[in-house]
Amino acid sequence: MSMPTLRRFLTQQSGERQLNPNLIFLVEDIAAACRVVGNHIRNAAFEGTLGLAGGSNIQGEEQKTLDVVADREFARICANSPRLAALVSEEVDEITWLKEPEAGDYLLYYDPLDGSSNIDVNLSVGSIFSVCEVENDGDRDVLKQGSRQICAGYAIYGPATMLVLTMGDGVNGFSCEHGTGDFRLTHPGLDIPATTSEFAINASRYHHWDAPVRRYVDECLAGGSGPRGRAFNMRWTASMVADVHRILMRGGVFLYPSDAANRGLGGKLRLLYEANPMALIVEQAGGLASTGERRLLDLMPESHHQRVPVILGSRDEVARLEGYHRT
Ligand code: AHG
Ligand code: MN
Ligand code: MN
Ligand code: MN
Repeated sequence: MSMPTLRRFLTQQSGERQLNPNLIFLVEDIAAACRVVGNHIRNAAFEGTLGLAGGSNIQGEEQKTLDVVADREFARICANSPRLAALVSEEVDEITWLKEPEAGDYLLYYDPLDGSSNIDVNLSVGSIFSVCEVENDGDRDVLKQGSRQICAGYAIYGPATMLVLTMGDGVNGFSCEHGTGDFRLTHPGLDIPATTSEFAINASRYHHWDAPVRRYVDECLAGGSGPRGRAFNMRWTASMVADVHRILMRGGVFLYPSDAANRGLGGKLRLLYEANPMALIVEQAGGLASTGERRLLDLMPESHHQRVPVILGSRDEVARLEGYHRT
């Protein structure tokens, strides 16, 4: 079975789809950053980088040392890309402008370490990224609709390190080969089944949920004798990358909805570097991604650390949840 490297895959795509070589260079830099972050994670006990960094980010979260290390590596490695104009990171309050933006330059949005509460218990974590284009010379607007993303992906640092990528034409999964460090195409054409019997939500928030989410979960939990007529399984990793990756592999629905406790913040997950990239990946794999009320990719961001409710995954379940929100 042929398993082209990421470079070969992107080069082939550039011929078929006229991808800009500068975008390919940027994706290669992002992949290098993910490889380096993965190595830091695996060596954290030796490098003394487990535990807290001592500071907090703009969302009021205590930063882990590896949140800070991963952010620094992303910025250092991706700054190598000559057409990269700006970085928007979960861990940095302000936008980092690397150059005066020119039309066609790139904007990189990233969550350098997703699921960082899992770090000290050695469970799967990841990195999430998204790329948009500068429209006009001097345009410093990073608040783009998710539908404007030209590339999005994530790395999962699990038993194997994988990079899952969309350039707006389907979703492909690359595994990092131990030894060479090459990302090679092992999971081409990822496709989320439309139907599923598995959901993912932090059920400890049940008492905060709104009626549509309670109804949905209650019906799933009722099993074969309930209104769904079948048993549902539940999983929650507390790492969005791991939970979404499972959905890409075998279907499912993921919810981090608006609830009574997070409504004032707008939700929990961040629009530009968590929800939007995952929404593009899920749609490109045949799934749906919604706030419950609207398609995520249609939202017009108001601020670069904005939070948003997220419901995504298998089409039938997301459509059902949207229906429950309308009634
Ligand atoms: P991050 O580690 O980048 O701050 O993201 C954590 C997010 C996401 O990965 C996960 O789905 C969610 O927070 C888990 O939240 P709970 O701890 O409330 O379950
Ligand atoms: Mn965080
Ligand atoms: Mn995250
Ligand atoms: Mn993070």
